[in-house]
Amino acid sequence: MREQFAITHPPDFEPAMARDAARRSLVRALAKGGIESAQIDARVLLCAALGIDHADLVRNPDCPLGPGAAAVAFFAARRLKREPVSRIIGHRDFWRARFKIGPAVLDPRHATEALIEAVLDYAARSPRENWRILDLGTGDGRLLALVKPALSTPVEAVAVDFSPAMLQAAGTRFAGDSSVTIVSHNLDHPLPALGKFDAVVSSFAIHHLVHERKRVLYGEIHELLNPGGVFCNLEHVDSPTQRLHEEFLHSIDCTLETEDPSNKLLDLETQLRWLREIGFADVDCHWKWRELALMVGRRL
Ligand SMILES: C[S@@+](CC[C@H](N)C(=O)[O-])C[C@H]1O[C@@H](n2cnc3c(N)ncnc32)[C@H](O)[C@@H]1O
Repeated sequence: MREQFAITHPPDFEPAMARDAARRSLVRALAKGGIESAQIDARVLLCAALGIDHADLVRNPDCPLGPGAAAVAFFAARRLKREPVSRIIGHRDFWRARFKIGPAVLDPRHATEALIEAVLDYAARSPRENWRILDLGTGDGRLLALVKPALSTPVEAVAVDFSPAMLQAAGTRFAGDSSVTIVSHNLDHPLPALGKFDAVVSSFAIHHLVHERKRVLYGEIHELLNPGGVFCNLEHVDSPTQRLHEEFLHSIDCTLETEDPSNKLLDLETQLRWLREIGFADVDCHWKWRELALMVGRRL
């Protein structure tokens, strides 16, 4: 194997580690991983993970990484898997705010807007004084941070994920916001007792579960919705043919070799059928582009 294709593991990044020491460690790891632009990539990734600019990095080289250490490690691991820097640190401005784009998410603007519209449509039809929303596989809480202010009533939210880095990122985002509870839970296992919800949302998360668990989870979601409650699942679904799958990968600058091995893609039709069989009403696909689809259903 040529050196440039060697797979290396990201170094440890502790909160007490100084910024410049982390930068040098990251340069070494990326270079060892065969990434030619290791110097510049390390600087760009470090600054993005810490939310600082280059001038700040130069001015304060001894400043500890602090809570941003987890994000540095997360970014390093992704770059070592050859994910483009632009996607790792990608930002888009929409819905009047700036949000980070998650792994394997292209530009979720239209998809996410469709999901928010589905929640708002439902809110207009079923007005409530207070809302309880559950976000499954919340990541850094990007989706909840969009949905909450879009509703005109007070919202209590529960955000579930199992990744320590993502839980930390969500904790940072919602620090000081007592209306959001962050729960560490592996969705491979039955949902814990979280109470009832008016809306359950999920974005690009459930496709990481095996198919049998997807179906059981959909049933659990149905049970924890209040009557009239809505389930909006923005999901990475399977293509109808291998050629379409490869075209999709190509369109996101990915290949069969580099696609996320943890994906367990299932076609849209099967999932819509399952939702109907479970008892969801008005089940439909509200938005779709290739392998990205928004499924919506209501509890009667
Ligand atoms: C592609 S990210 C999407 C994050 C966020 N929903 C968004 O749209 O920006 C997928 C998320 O699902 C979480 N996830 C994957 N498998 C999970 C599991 N078994 N249990 C809990 N969370 C999981 C990952 O940690 C990650 O945060």
